[in-house]
Amino acid sequence: MPEHTFTFPEGFLFGASTAAHQIEGNNVNSDWWVFENREGSGVEEPSGDAADSYHRWPEDMDLLRDLGFTAYRFSVEWARIEPEPGRFSRAALDHYRRMVEGAHARGLEPVVTLHHFTSPRWFSAAGGWTAPDAVQRFTAYAEAVAPILEGRVRYVATINEPNMIALMHTAIRQGGANVDFKLLEPDTALSEGLIAAHHAARDALRGVSSEFRVGWTVANQVYQPEPGAEEVCRAHAWPREDRFLEAARDDDWIGVQSYTRTRVSADGPLPVPDGAEKTLTGWEYHPAALGEAVRHTARVVGPRVPILVTENGIATADDTRRVAYTRGALAGLAAAMSEGADVRGYLHWSALDNYEWGSYRPTFGLIAVDRRTFTRTPKPSARWLGEISRTRALPE
Ligand code: BGC
Repeated sequence: MPEHTFTFPEGFLFGASTAAHQIEGNNVNSDWWVFENREGSGVEEPSGDAADSYHRWPEDMDLLRDLGFTAYRFSVEWARIEPEPGRFSRAALDHYRRMVEGAHARGLEPVVTLHHFTSPRWFSAAGGWTAPDAVQRFTAYAEAVAPILEGRVRYVATINEPNMIALMHTAIRQGGANVDFKLLEPDTALSEGLIAAHHAARDALRGVSSEFRVGWTVANQVYQPEPGAEEVCRAHAWPREDRFLEAARDDDWIGVQSYTRTRVSADGPLPVPDGAEKTLTGWEYHPAALGEAVRHTARVVGPRVPILVTENGIATADDTRRVAYTRGALAGLAAAMSEGADVRGYLHWSALDNYEWGSYRPTFGLIAVDRRTFTRTPKPSARWLGEISRTRALPE
């Protein structure tokens, strides 16, 4: 076999990811809606109607199927399912049950996230993840969702990017969205609360069905020490990433989410090097990050826990850069798999151009969305990645 080709194993999932708040629209009962509409939040624009996927999800799934994908990761929205503490909406649960069934009907494996950054207003107002009853509240929510997933969903993610939640909390306390995340300290009590909630929800779901594979998805920063900064780098990485990976050692899978790298000197994290290409989020263009994130995750979590790449992508207005980035990322992934990493799927971030936590400007989508008419238009990158999904072969 020529060195440049790689065939992904049979059953390997190819698809794309989204999150409820970023695409559904009018998530008015969530804490993020409150935040983004507050004077002085620092966000550029509120989410509003987003991509109206609450109503247009069948069209989104049709497109993903037609493009050749075999999986779709989406989140169910706690703020809709439990609008008041202990009051579960049968209509909202039914909505998400139809989505799960809709994915199956189209040959898409649903990968379902229970919590993707947004909580109900009441949960945050009562103290969020550090409130005394937070673990019990989240577990009760997971148990309420379980019946619509049972027998239909294998991969369940409890909490998306707990490490980013711990940092965001500090950012918001420091006055809003416009702070340098690299310099923030994660909140320790919050991190511990998230880990406890994850473990309790995981155990509760396993109690409902032995067929659930429960995990969570961690933002991989690919911390790279400058010569001599190895110890500083390790100490920097632990509270921001590795403690959340270590917490996944008894999980059924782990989600790798990778976009770029962070170089660390003896004085701490470094800015993007001068002259390096930057994406629309200001991150360094570094497709090799994915392979490194997978290797690091496998090292910390251990070989027993399979990996799903649950996010990888680039914010760009130039779709040819998306193809180039993804090609590079998949080459790195293929190399890590050839070395033995047990990876079961690749889900690109994102299916649609969507609300990037404060702004619609950074476009991550394989599919463009007209903000006025909600018309969806697949980009060439969507067809390119769909073809890889169909053939499972990585072209040169
Ligand atoms: C999140 C997504 C986000 C993406 C790009 C991840 O941090 O899970 O919600 O849109 O990265 O920033």
